[in-house]
Amino acid sequence: MSLIDLSQVAGFEVALDPHGLELRFGEGITSDPPEVRRRADIRQMLLDPQAEGPDHLYTIYMHIRLGRAAALEERGLGLGAVVYAAGTVGRERVRSQGHVHSCPPGTELAYSEVYEFWHGSGLMYLQDVASPEVSRVLLVPVGPGDKVPIPPGWVHVVVNTGEEPLVLGAVYALETRLLYEPLRELGGTAYYVLADGGLERNPRYRRVPEPRRVSVPRGRQACLEPDLPMVRALMEDPSCYDYVSRPQEHRALWDWLLGEWGG
Ligand SMILES: [Fe+2]
Repeated sequence: MSLIDLSQVAGFEVALDPHGLELRFGEGITSDPPEVRRRADIRQMLLDPQAEGPDHLYTIYMHIRLGRAAALEERGLGLGAVVYAAGTVGRERVRSQGHVHSCPPGTELAYSEVYEFWHGSGLMYLQDVASPEVSRVLLVPVGPGDKVPIPPGWVHVVVNTGEEPLVLGAVYALETRLLYEPLRELGGTAYYVLADGGLERNPRYRRVPEPRRVSVPRGRQACLEPDLPMVRALMEDPSCYDYVSRPQEHRALWDWLLGEWGG
């Protein structure tokens, strides 16, 4: 079985087993036991809850420990990864179910997260709220090396638009809770991304804008350079993703990010 080496783009020793939708870590690198998400698990978020498709949709790795991860944990951060199958579920592309994050205690700005894409090609679907009146829907095409910070409070979904597994790494806040219920009550996001590249509106939403296609943001201040893996950026500057775990202290960065995406 041939593994695909992702070490260059990830910044540490890791390879993809594309058939098993699994990652193989280098010596001394560990994670929590991987979790498999199956079609039945995300049914309530689908355009067609009874849709046919692959059973094993994606594999999640949390708490990847690199041996030198102290800098991460001291900053309130964890490193995760997800491997998405290629293919379709009914008329949709294989994708994550979508969620929002909780807020740090005593604040109104939710924890963020940064996704770094390691393999394949995909689309990030971003929606400003998990409620029936939406103001902004953004679509961000992504490929290896691209990094996308999640603006606080935004719904985020990853869609595999390619013919190979899509792999991402994530720097997330250790204290965050992942909230699925607000979106589940709406039957998923405001738009569903179809296999033919089109979008279908979710009728449960009252107000929905036209989606806008935007680019991956680039910026030294947010540690988003495409050729510097997140784990290496953290070694150079352990504070560089503090905006993930302490979003309320980084309002200028969120203004910059949303400005890059057209406000
Ligand atoms: Fe998330």
